Amino acid sequence: MKRAVEPEACALARWEGGDVDAWSRRWGVPRLLLFDRVGSTNDIASALARDGAAAGTTVLAEEQSAGRGRHGRRWHAPAGRALLLSTILRPRPATAPGTLPLRAGIAVARAIESCTGARCGIEWPNDVLVDGRKVAGILCEASLGGDDGGFVVVGIGINVALEEADFPDGEVRRRATSLWLATGRPVDRGRLAGAVLRELMTGPGHDAGQLRGDVAAELARRDTLRGRVVVEPDGRRLGVGDGVDPDGALRLRQPDGSVRRLTAGSVRGASPDDPEP
Ligand code: BTN
Repeated sequence: MKRAVEPEACALARWEGGDVDAWSRRWGVPRLLLFDRVGSTNDIASALARDGAAAGTTVLAEEQSAGRGRHGRRWHAPAGRALLLSTILRPRPATAPGTLPLRAGIAVARAIESCTGARCGIEWPNDVLVDGRKVAGILCEASLGGDDGGFVVVGIGINVALEEADFPDGEVRRRATSLWLATGRPVDRGRLAGAVLRELMTGPGHDAGQLRGDVAAELARRDTLRGRVVVEPDGRRLGVGDGVDPDGALRLRQPDGSVRRLTAGSVRGASPDDPEP
């Protein structure tokens, strides 16, 4: 192992039986950095992107000491039991950047389905759910515009082999799962990473234009909030899910029939123990 990029980061020469060059070739990425432990793979990928790294450049770690979730939350995963990676995209056109998280969600959902057969839903904007529980989280950090068009770092955490006891408390256990818990079968992380990267680079993450046609139809099929009461994390009611607009905004039907559009935020489908409106 040699020191690299961040003070605490240790590069791995091998991962899951293959060396860095072999994985890089197999996944078709221009550059791959593998670490046993880093602060956050998104930080490393962002620094590389600012230095001009090519689209597809990917950072993968077995463990993160400062893994980030959306809205400043922490993202914890036990070492070696998740797939933790960040990849750089340079989507063209990027006329509807609000669609990026959704596009990344579709890519991850497709990859999980192709490797495990587990049906995946997407909870706006980009949580990937199996059996109604979160199996993967995605953090898109974009710096679009400028002379070179900019970049987006797509950070993905997939719960691959977590056991019940790996979730920090009962609340998380109720809302989260892993591929192992959901399917009862082990998952090949090398194959899963390859499928994720392929879908990101050649599938819906390729551009960040408006959601139209097949991608919009696929999102509608996977939308776990459609027709459900949607609430804020504290259980306050926001409306009934009415699909997603072409720019990526969540449509929420109000009691008077009007539609409220949400372009950012954290929401979930109501559960029976939420307070009545
Ligand atoms: C969320 O659901 O809130 C998003 C979680 C994203 C976690 C991944 S793990 C790899 C990458 N590095 C990070 O620090 N975060 C993302």
